[in-house]
Amino acid sequence: MTATEFTAPVTTSDGPIVRTVDINKWFGDRHILTDVSIEIERGEVVVLVGPSGAGKTTFLRTLNRLEPIDSGEIYVNGERIGERVRENGRTAEISAKALAKQRSNIGFVFQHFNLFPHMTVLENIWHSPVRVKGEKKSEAVAYARELLARVGLSDKADVRPRSLSGGQQQRVAIARALAMRPALMLFDEPTSALDPEMVGEVLQVMKDLAAAGMTMIIVSHEMGFTREVADRVIVMDAGAIIEQGDPELVFTAPKHERTRQFLSKVL
Ligand SMILES: Nc1ncnc2c1ncn2[C@@H]1O[C@H](COP(=O)(O)OP(=O)(O)OP(=O)(O)O)[C@@H](O)[C@H]1O
Ligand SMILES: [Mg+2]
Repeated sequence: MTATEFTAPVTTSDGPIVRTVDINKWFGDRHILTDVSIEIERGEVVVLVGPSGAGKTTFLRTLNRLEPIDSGEIYVNGERIGERVRENGRTAEISAKALAKQRSNIGFVFQHFNLFPHMTVLENIWHSPVRVKGEKKSEAVAYARELLARVGLSDKADVRPRSLSGGQQQRVAIARALAMRPALMLFDEPTSALDPEMVGEVLQVMKDLAAAGMTMIIVSHEMGFTREVADRVIVMDAGAIIEQGDPELVFTAPKHERTRQFLSKVL
């Protein structure tokens, strides 16, 4: 597979692929995200770190509106996610169909793979491109086989997910997300539920993806991987971004005391 097959679809927008403006999110009376603003460039690999409860998962989920926000704006590929601005200046939610289309542009890989148990591995991969995007089945199946080869699991096409190891299931989950030809891939601790001996094979697939030019936002505590692959590290604490930059700089000379405390536990 060539690098271009993983790059973002052509769009009319030249700006950052992800832009958030002052996202605020509350759960009841708890302020979970405070004025979170980021810009992510095409092809950039960003690793999001921070202590438990910092809001990393919540932030990732807001990007495709798995989690609604209370204020702020989110743009992917220049398109406002989940909302439109009405003539009176207020925002309204877009239709479920329009949101599904926006979501199909954003791949999401979870800690627990969430594969469809009743489908074979190959069906797991081609199902959404056919059902959600209306791709031709023969083409979707062919691409699913290519992706399965890409994650090193060609021989597992016809088995059910439960017969695979955790590392293999997570590689299928990555192939399934890629099958939608997303412009952006989000990963929420993709290796933290795996036995240690399976972490490497999943990180390798992610490294290949990064090398192929995919834009990725990854929540991870794998600091060696982050040093090797990340263009930028973003540190979150208590619902806010407290520091960001080149991983080597952030890890060796953190500016913020909270970053130092967090790193002393994970490095
Ligand atoms: N559905 C929910 N309802 C209420 N509170 C929630 C909900 N989801 C998350 N929270 C709270 O929001 C805060 C941020 O949680 P989040 O899961 O985003 O943190 P995190 O940085 O991903 O942590 P971890 O490293 O443990 O995964 C936490 O205080 C959590 O308890
Ligand atoms: Mg989390």
